[in-house]
Amino acid sequence: MHCALAIDLGGTELRAAIVDRNGQLIAFAATPTDARGGPNAVIAQIVSLVDQVRVEAGSCSIMGLGIGSAGPLDPLTGTVIAPPTLHGWRDVPLAAILRDRLAMPVLLENDANTAALGEWRFGAGRGTQSMAFVTVSTGIGGGIIADGKLLHGRRGLAAEIGHMTIAADSDELCACGARGCWEAMASGTALSRDATRLAASGEASLLKKLAGSGPVTGHHIAQAAHESDKIALSLLADEARWLGIGLANLLHLYSPERLIIGGGVGNLLELMHEGIERVINERAMSAYRDVPVIAAELGRNAGLIGAASMIFNGQHKPEPEA
Ligand code: BGC
Ligand code: NA
Ligand code: ZN
Repeated sequence: MHCALAIDLGGTELRAAIVDRNGQLIAFAATPTDARGGPNAVIAQIVSLVDQVRVEAGSCSIMGLGIGSAGPLDPLTGTVIAPPTLHGWRDVPLAAILRDRLAMPVLLENDANTAALGEWRFGAGRGTQSMAFVTVSTGIGGGIIADGKLLHGRRGLAAEIGHMTIAADSDELCACGARGCWEAMASGTALSRDATRLAASGEASLLKKLAGSGPVTGHHIAQAAHESDKIALSLLADEARWLGIGLANLLHLYSPERLIIGGGVGNLLELMHEGIERVINERAMSAYRDVPVIAAELGRNAGLIGAASMIFNGQHKPEPEA
């Protein structure tokens, strides 16, 4: 059986897998990313995870390694340029380094692009010609399938949607150094920041009880919202508003058949669906309003499955129908 190695390199978690042609995980391992340790530390982590999953490869013959990493990065040269969430990375030729270490073909792609490929080929985007995938987690990333292929743009840098300015007058600082980016307003990091602020401001909230002395997470917010906690509901209403504004922009830009939402905050989609739809109806022109906003299907494995699929299908072609 032919398999591929897959790596998903995020600012918070580093995941590795062996994946078959049907998008099934054969082996899996993960570790917190040493995001402060710089490229050498993270490359050592990658090599060690690859060794771990390889032990479980069984009869699989490994065709190559597909990596999804936080960007910006250049998939054509395999170079990670300078991700806001990975400290000390600057123009790291990651694909070439791993090709030498592991002696196999290596393809590098933006992490949101790999997740978009996974959802397109095996998940919520199957059968579409155009779709927009948005991951809302530590950062906000995007992967756009336009007219049957992944949109790359100059140097493969297209669709860094987390850094579109959404709130021009906001002081909220983004990891990229700018203010008012979509990521600064609506990422998991931003949601947790706002929630922690509110909980600390002495509001008598269930959130404070749930989080104790630690930061408030999306999980706490979901739990409190299910118990109709007012503060949790207002946090989710704000989050839905910021998401809706960005999504309305994506509708106008790309006219996707579906908007697919993944990442940790994507798990809260059900709680925000009404709010998002309301904002889209206010802001998108009528021709764009009937596009479904749906949850990703492959969960946290979308990036791994998409990264592996690049080894079998390249970065553009859809999976041939079985
Ligand atoms: C980066 C994107 C990435 C996203 C999710 C953003 O901060 O700029 O390249 O896709 O985070 O990891
Ligand atoms: Na992208
Ligand atoms: Zn930014």
